[in-house]
Amino acid sequence: MDKIKALFNSPEHVKGYDLKTRKANWLGPEILFGLCFRDICPGEKILDLGIGTGLISELFHKAGLEAYGMDFSSGMLKACAEKGIAVELKEHDLRNIPYPYATDSMDHAVCGGVMHIFEDISPIFKEVSRITRKNGIFAFACVDHNASCTGKTPIKSGQMTAMVYSHDRAAIEKLLEVYHFELLNSLEFSVFMQGNKNHQHIFQAYTARNLKVK
Ligand SMILES: C[S@@+](CC[C@H](N)C(=O)[O-])C[C@H]1O[C@@H](n2cnc3c(N)ncnc32)[C@H](O)[C@@H]1O
Repeated sequence: MDKIKALFNSPEHVKGYDLKTRKANWLGPEILFGLCFRDICPGEKILDLGIGTGLISELFHKAGLEAYGMDFSSGMLKACAEKGIAVELKEHDLRNIPYPYATDSMDHAVCGGVMHIFEDISPIFKEVSRITRKNGIFAFACVDHNASCTGKTPIKSGQMTAMVYSHDRAAIEKLLEVYHFELLNSLEFSVFMQGNKNHQHIFQAYTARNLKVK
């Protein structure tokens, strides 16, 4: 098992996760939900990539959507299942494609608090483009490439040092173009890394529409 997966599976991480996100001022769920709200309807299906304990899906569930979640941490998935907000949860590593969902099987997709773990995020865009329907919304947030975080920045988490990868706007716009999404909105927000107000990272939330151009 790789070190990152072991970290996300550790009982201490799973148990402390929701509280940690509050200390970090993690507003990704509220922001992504708000940016999508005009384009979503009760009864629609949304795929949450890296669902964790379900902080994002919780809001879509409350709005009457069916949340489907994928994550490689069985511990995080168990904590999410206990909340009863997702209709289905699958253990799957986002680095491995294809993802276990049929083409055009989801209305929308969301991915928050995950992309900074990946140097190469193109598999996520490729698969979301395939799995979501025409005109479906993809809402995601990533660490913005700027003065506070350029490329890859080491961050200490307990005993281990993990990398935070930033993704700049031009690279995101290129990915959206390659996988046939139309950018709708974006919004900057800051997160206190490790709950430390003096160590902020700027995140960028985006929403895009799947044009499904063949
Ligand atoms: C910081 S948490 C974010 C969870 C949730 N999206 C939220 O907003 O609270 C990152 C999540 O991504 C998952 N994750 C990280 N790398 C992954 C990978 N390669 N495949 C699947 N899940 C992954 C972790 O297990 C964890 O649940």
